[in-house]
Amino acid sequence: MIIVFGSMNVDLITPVKDFPHPGETVLCTSDYVSRSGGKGANQAVAAMRAGAKTVMVGKVGDDAFGRRSVNNLKNQGIWTTGIGISDTRPTGCATIAVNAQGENTIVVAPGANLEATSDQVPDEVLVSKNVVLTQLECAPKETFSVLARAEAKGCVTILNASPAGHIPKEALPNIDYLIVNEIEALQLARGVGIEDTDPRAIARKISDAGQHSCIITLAAKGAIAANKNGVFSIGALDVEVVDTTGAGDTFCGIFAAAILAGQSSLIALHRASVGAGLSCMALGAQDSAPAKDDIDAHLSRLQQAQKIG
Ligand code: RIB
Repeated sequence: MIIVFGSMNVDLITPVKDFPHPGETVLCTSDYVSRSGGKGANQAVAAMRAGAKTVMVGKVGDDAFGRRSVNNLKNQGIWTTGIGISDTRPTGCATIAVNAQGENTIVVAPGANLEATSDQVPDEVLVSKNVVLTQLECAPKETFSVLARAEAKGCVTILNASPAGHIPKEALPNIDYLIVNEIEALQLARGVGIEDTDPRAIARKISDAGQHSCIITLAAKGAIAANKNGVFSIGALDVEVVDTTGAGDTFCGIFAAAILAGQSSLIALHRASVGAGLSCMALGAQDSAPAKDDIDAHLSRLQQAQKIG
């Protein structure tokens, strides 16, 4: 099973022609829509649709957004008994602007997500055949605690370091796969004194420093992965982009599902890139996540990962 320790938000999505500049007001090109989101929940949905039994652990507020977030996951077949309810803080909420090119800007009010604690993940599920998937929208201390406990029990551990944040040195050995986008990779690199700007060099150095696999997603250019066997590149599907929101989350969820199913990391990379591409063809971060059969049907459109270094 996949245990996702992470965030649940309600996303308020505003379609715009262009993003507003500071001090500017712009009108939407159509009505706003409100959808379930949050990096953790998005990854849980993507993993479940990709065929993995999935558990969500996190915290929502005692409010309509919280009930909606939990019900949405439950209705899709995700186990939600590990989700707590905050007495004091509201459910996380993200304001997302999507421009005519399908690019987005996101502002997150994390609220109750910051109250999720490591001890909500019971020891019983931290067993070696399980995969633990995390991001950085909950309190970092609790996220790194979950990773440390999971690694100690022999689980496969994945950190999607998004939004970018500091990863303490002592947490590095507890991460088997570190997944970031290009912007997060640059921020991470700067934080540990890596001067390179080429994603290949950054992935190599971060992988060496952490003794783990480092995957950098590159939007329309696919992704780079560095591990002890070398540096690998995977392309991206050529699709008509409607909304890229959550594409990185879909990538992480599908990657985790493939690893859980015993696939190699290169096959997982291939499946994740295909699925992330497919998810850009519809609005919203979760509704667009493809089913396993969709991913299977489109795999042949993308060449498998190639060794480039
Ligand atoms: O990655 C996309 C997600 O980021 C959105 O669903 C939003 O809630 C924020 O967490």
